[in-house]
Amino acid sequence: MDATHSTQLGGFVSCRPSAVPKADPLSGRGNYQICLMCGCRRGDAVEVQNEVMETWDALRARRNVRKFTAQPVPDEALNQILEAGRRAPSASNWQPWDFVLVTDRTQLVELAKVWQGAGHVAGAAAAISIVAPVPQDDRQSALLQFDLGQATYAMTVAAADLGIGTGHAPAADQEQARAVLGLPEGRFLAYVLSVGYPADRPLAVIDRLNRRPFDEVVHRGRW
Ligand SMILES: Cc1cc2nc3c(=O)[nH]c(=O)nc-3n(C[C@H](O)[C@H](O)[C@H](O)COP(=O)(O)O)c2cc1C
Repeated sequence: MDATHSTQLGGFVSCRPSAVPKADPLSGRGNYQICLMCGCRRGDAVEVQNEVMETWDALRARRNVRKFTAQPVPDEALNQILEAGRRAPSASNWQPWDFVLVTDRTQLVELAKVWQGAGHVAGAAAAISIVAPVPQDDRQSALLQFDLGQATYAMTVAAADLGIGTGHAPAADQEQARAVLGLPEGRFLAYVLSVGYPADRPLAVIDRLNRRPFDEVVHRGRW
């Protein structure tokens, strides 16, 4: 069985089968694992090489991480997280985002200064700067926020799926952002996402959640 697979992300990645063997979606039978990096299928005899979360687990394990270990995040993982953002849906498919990946410590420290709540960026292994066009009117501004939210969330879940933590921060100081990232005219830094392995505790499904109760949030048929 191949150890690596070519990807559209510009290189080769280690094959990464899903942790839980699946039944074939067409026949409903069998016991194969699907590679999460390249999509290839592996049969019964193949051992699971990496512990990888299922989507539902990743959704429930994601949390805002603000302290990171010094361990670097592999390029293939960063590319997969960025790819999740690139694939996000957007209004009329306008894809208003650009992502500037930062891994240089000096740059990360400077990037952390774009907002008082962005201190976690300084200690992250990497940061994804989410850059957007300056909106032309209120409607575009609203669409932009929605679309950036979708791309951001996709990246946070994709990261959690790999056991990698992410931390949000908006950007207030656009001059600082421009100086650090060299943004072109007409673009601004909307958000920064810290990326790295959590220093407090590994990501795991959160049972005691600080969220409003399900029955309070969900209304069926009518409010
Ligand atoms: C738009 C937005 C802005 C945020 N800004 C910050 C921030 O400046 N600093 C920070 O540490 N966390 C920030 N957060 C993280 C939230 O505080 C966090 O997601 C929320 O408390 C829920 O916690 P959880 O993500 O761990 O579930 C932000 C989140 C969002 C969606």
